[in-house]
Amino acid sequence: MTRASENAAPRGVLVVDLGAQYAQLIARRVREANAWSEIAPPARALEVARRMNLAGIILSGGPASVYAPDAPKVPRELLELGVPVLGICYGMQWMMQVLDGDVQASSKREFGRTSIEIHHPEGVLEAIDGRTVVWMSHGDKVTRIPESFRTLASSPDCEFAAVGDAARGLYGVQFHPEVTHTVRGRELLENFVWRVCNLPGDWTSGSIVEREVAAIRALVGSDGEVVLGLSGGVDSSVAALIMHEAIGARLHCIFVDNGLLRKGERAAVERVFGQHFHMDLLVVDAADQFLGQLKGITDPEAKRKSIGREFVEVFRREAKRFNKAHFLGQGTLYPDVIESVNVHGGNTAVIKSHHNVGGLPEDLDMQLVEPLRELFKDEVRAIGRHLGLAPEIVERQPFPGPGLAVRCLGNLTRERLNVLREADHIVTTEIEAAGADKGLWQYFAVLLPVKSVGVMGDVRTYEEACALRVVQSEDGMTADWVQLPKELLGRISNRIINEVRGINRVVLDISSKPPGTIEWE
Ligand code: XMP
Repeated sequence: MTRASENAAPRGVLVVDLGAQYAQLIARRVREANAWSEIAPPARALEVARRMNLAGIILSGGPASVYAPDAPKVPRELLELGVPVLGICYGMQWMMQVLDGDVQASSKREFGRTSIEIHHPEGVLEAIDGRTVVWMSHGDKVTRIPESFRTLASSPDCEFAAVGDAARGLYGVQFHPEVTHTVRGRELLENFVWRVCNLPGDWTSGSIVEREVAAIRALVGSDGEVVLGLSGGVDSSVAALIMHEAIGARLHCIFVDNGLLRKGERAAVERVFGQHFHMDLLVVDAADQFLGQLKGITDPEAKRKSIGREFVEVFRREAKRFNKAHFLGQGTLYPDVIESVNVHGGNTAVIKSHHNVGGLPEDLDMQLVEPLRELFKDEVRAIGRHLGLAPEIVERQPFPGPGLAVRCLGNLTRERLNVLREADHIVTTEIEAAGADKGLWQYFAVLLPVKSVGVMGDVRTYEEACALRVVQSEDGMTADWVQLPKELLGRISNRIINEVRGINRVVLDISSKPPGTIEWE
């Protein structure tokens, strides 16, 4: 399958993922230094290195020991490609071992912050002198370095905290420069990128737009048409903007109103994409179809399955209107397509399953156009801003594909969805008005099928309860509940109970993930 982003690769750094969770972070740091980066598992590293316009290689850390039977098999040829290599933690140990140094196995881990003393501020440590705090997390330890290397820094427990062979551009650090606990880690990685690899630092996420626009034009041709499922989320919105820039009215966006949207969502999409950007936007009113199918379903998985099925049905039906379109646009991101290595360091690359818009089936028989395939979420947001996308969309909190269905516990009726929509609107607008949304991952209301007794004025009420879910998170994989100021909570609660008929009690969800999940269903 041809993809829109295979043209004209910029010079960049290959990050070899040796099985820890840090490879993505390293790749992002390289990009923050305005240099291109790609991630590959060790089994594919050589192939990717040869395909890329390679300026340097970073070997990530990993949980394995170089002596473990299932330790990642890194091809030695990576050290012979004539480009600089930085080994981090396990990556350093591997490099030391293959270059005839010694590594001592240990079952004890050195973990946490430690101070290193820099003996030679050169190479990756250029302009970083004296003492500085770094983050260590390793078991095995280098006990002898190869002859061509010298020790650049040491800690009380680790003689070879940083080593280098300047002539060959090979460096190793036992600590993790990519994490923020390593105070000068960013500078270290910038040194590697700018000074050691000699990259000019001219790659910006904005510059990728030009490249992608050219690639889309080349792929789609002068009369090809693209259909895209626009959800109004950041990814599909930015993908739409890039494609629109490339082919204008030959991009057809389909927005499905499934009756499970938040208040004002459909109007915002119509305003931003239809009126402001003048895109060809088809808004499909399918609320009856979705809610009809969902009638009586209360099981969370059954709800999700029903919504997924209906979405495919609606999209298929509506896409037929554009029967000249042989291309399907998608907002797939880099983390969705990175091949991840087995966390125990094994070499078996597992391809993460794509989570594409509504799980569209392969048999749509259309060629994919995925302009965000090589980008991280924060880069997609930067491009959105660069292209003039309204903050209400660029900064939007994540919203699940099944929409309010997974926040309206129990039966999904139009009435209950309206009650939830109003309550949710109060939660979001109050939090944003108070400026309390900064740093929050998500903040929303959940309608519970639990009735309790209340009193309003002199009247007894018997209505449902609403839960507030407010969380902080880096990536949605783990999350902490957030303590909002009492006055703000009070205002939200008062407004919901006074203004939303159908809710007479507001409760606060104080569960973290794990063991809770962010959504209730
Ligand atoms: P959970 O509830 O699993 O959610 O802790 C983690 C993050 O994923 C979002 N989420 C979804 N996003 N389709 C999506 O695109 C879905 O079906 C879906 N379910 C959950 C959720 O909002 C949170 O940010």
